[in-house]
Amino acid sequence: MKVVVLGGYGHYGRYVARQLAERDIVTTLVVAGRSLEKAQAQADLLGAKAVAGRVDLFEKADVPEAVRGADLVVNATGPDHLTVIPALRLAIAAGADYCDLNISWRATEEALAMSQDAAAAGITAITGIGAFPGLFSLLAMQGVSRFDQVKTLRLGYCMSVQAAFGDSLGGAPAHTSHQEIGAALAAVIHGFSGTARQFVDGRYADLPAFGPAYKIPLLSGGAIEVHTQGSAEPITLPESIPGIEEVTMGAGFYPPQVNDLIKRHIDAHFPGEEEAVVAAVRKELAGDPERWTAEAREDVTKGESVCLEGIKDGRPARCLVEPNWNAEAFAEDASGDVVTGGPLLVASLKLLGGEIGAKGGFAPETCFSPGSFFEDLRREVNLFTERDGALVTEKFEFLG
Ligand SMILES: NC(=O)c1ccc[n+]([C@@H]2O[C@H](COP(=O)([O-])OP(=O)(O)OC[C@H]3O[C@@H](n4cnc5c(N)ncnc54)[C@H](OP(=O)(O)O)[C@@H]3O)[C@@H](O)[C@H]2O)c1
Repeated sequence: MKVVVLGGYGHYGRYVARQLAERDIVTTLVVAGRSLEKAQAQADLLGAKAVAGRVDLFEKADVPEAVRGADLVVNATGPDHLTVIPALRLAIAAGADYCDLNISWRATEEALAMSQDAAAAGITAITGIGAFPGLFSLLAMQGVSRFDQVKTLRLGYCMSVQAAFGDSLGGAPAHTSHQEIGAALAAVIHGFSGTARQFVDGRYADLPAFGPAYKIPLLSGGAIEVHTQGSAEPITLPESIPGIEEVTMGAGFYPPQVNDLIKRHIDAHFPGEEEAVVAAVRKELAGDPERWTAEAREDVTKGESVCLEGIKDGRPARCLVEPNWNAEAFAEDASGDVVTGGPLLVASLKLLGGEIGAKGGFAPETCFSPGSFFEDLRREVNLFTERDGALVTEKFEFLG
């Protein structure tokens, strides 16, 4: 089958293209992006079935030669608020199934609104199957299935400032484009700009992004400190959890003092100026790295959390859900790209294998069942391991 990886020489695109090239079901793998030279260099690393193609999602044109006849378009481009809708339009025009890593709440709403067009084209389009959203949305659904009724779902992650802003702590030069700062960082900054649609008191509410810090407990102990972030989960998950009153998404940087610095620079710029935000943040970080990287507080740490509250066995209860990560997967892939790229790969393989009969546009939790998805992640990329007979740990606490 023919698969096109848009952004196939980008950070996550490289990972998924390499994995797909190793699968027998893929007979032609097109590595695509705006630079044919970069696409060719990447295709050359992937063996005989890989070819390069030039695709610019910002050009209004017919279906490019590289995409014609494709069975599946895997979209690993970004930032999502700019590239998801043109990529989905392209897949619809080409009659190819589609999946992406989309975190943008606006692009998610727009993509799902195109569901009828996707169905009319006879394709299945899945938007937001990375880690957040994606894997952690499915972990949330696993938790939901254990309750009589879930009332609140809080999702969040806290990442190290070094991981997010890279070598800049040593004083890298200011960067000037999305290409140079990377689409993922641009998308994260964008999600912290303007308003972030959340689901509160049983309805959608547009809250200021990067609002006041709040904590979410971690299963392993302690908590992460996060701020409201625009992302797909509060848009899609309420549709799958009848009667839920709150779905929120928060993110933050570690150590916590860098959040004030980053927020200040986001507030000083307009949405769309992510590269200028990153340049300003990098400059200030490099000016006083000790201040910004000092681990000053013990009450919060890094990590990811899925925290549900509701009624279980007739009693108020809280549940924290965490994957049983397989350390071997991280040893094989020190960058951790498997956490985001693995779910995109598994979704791609399920689409290629014809496992999803429904046509139209879908969020991951509406077309994948958590248990079998986690099994596939273990089989395909070794991401999970069994502990106490399960791939996922769920910790319940009764609240009254
Ligand atoms: N759901 C999740 O958990 C999750 C996690 C991490 C990242 N993400 C998302 O994944 C996306 C990719 O992140 P990344 O770090 O891999 O980004 P990246 O390294 O910057 O790669 C982006 C790729 O997209 C291509 N591209 C950009 N604009 C394009 C256009 N107009 N037409 C065709 N190709 C275009 C780029 O190549 P050219 O610029 O040369 O065209 C590049 O190959 C981000 O948008 C991010 O939000 C999601």
